[in-house]
Amino acid sequence: MTQFSVTGFGPASIGNLAVGFDILGLSLSGIYDEVTLTKRTDREIKISNIKGVTQNLPKEAHKNTCGAALLAFQDKLNLNYGFDIAINKGIPLASGMGGSAASAVATVIAANHFLSQPLEKNELLEFALAGEQVASGSAHLDNVAPSLLGGLCLCLKNNKVIKIPTSSELNVVIFHPHIQVETKVARSILKDSISLNQYIEQSQYLAGFISACYEGDFNLIAKSLKDVVIEPQRSKLIPHFYQYQQEVLKVDGVLGCSISGAGPTMFALTNSDKSSLAVKQTFEQVAKLLNQSGKCWKLKINDQGAYTNEVH
Ligand code: HSE
Repeated sequence: MTQFSVTGFGPASIGNLAVGFDILGLSLSGIYDEVTLTKRTDREIKISNIKGVTQNLPKEAHKNTCGAALLAFQDKLNLNYGFDIAINKGIPLASGMGGSAASAVATVIAANHFLSQPLEKNELLEFALAGEQVASGSAHLDNVAPSLLGGLCLCLKNNKVIKIPTSSELNVVIFHPHIQVETKVARSILKDSISLNQYIEQSQYLAGFISACYEGDFNLIAKSLKDVVIEPQRSKLIPHFYQYQQEVLKVDGVLGCSISGAGPTMFALTNSDKSSLAVKQTFEQVAKLLNQSGKCWKLKINDQGAYTNEVH
């Protein structure tokens, strides 16, 4: 059956998750980018409409996250048709919530429906990555993979992704201060090298965190969810970061608090809904005290990842 339009939904995600720079990411429920594709009879890829919380996006296909993903898809699969792309952004621009990845993912999951033999979700990673690369200037999967596949994703070499189990009791809070931090800028300020001690300590935290997720060991998660490499460098880009972190870490049931992706959004993992509520209140109280505007969400992990309005 020929479908005229398909809408894809790409969830927000937390890149890095403090312990795994560029290799670990967590999918979030409730915050999405939405992309509707309409098949064209010619091969053109055209951005036809942009609406939602961010509208100031490139309109030329090869410079746009959705357009670039779709060009890669069209090229590799030799499609003899193109698409009109309508983007509805639910994720703020340059927020550290994986918005560019979510748009690219929403695009490819929708495009997949137009194929007579749709690809497996895993096979869509490379196309979404081509979109992400346009926005962030580098090809890292830590937002693309969780947005597409859901859950907690460990991204290995050659686009291999492993889904790490997470406890259903694990809860997430994110706070987005209303400033923008471009991923390209946040990457450009990072030092090229780290000390041997930092390498050892961060390896311990990453290994501890992953092992704790398999074991469902919240105590070990709390001891491991730390970033001694990137957070000290990027915290400078987030006004009052340590004030927020210090207050949030005092809340009962908090397992860790750090920067989401390239920032400025901060995240906390908690062991219960009750604790998440207290963390949300804390973020909001600190923001009020500092006279800083922002938005806080109490969220669950999204195990499903991207989806469309169509059923195969
Ligand atoms: N891993 C990426 C970074 C995520 O921190 O730069 C942001 O796209």
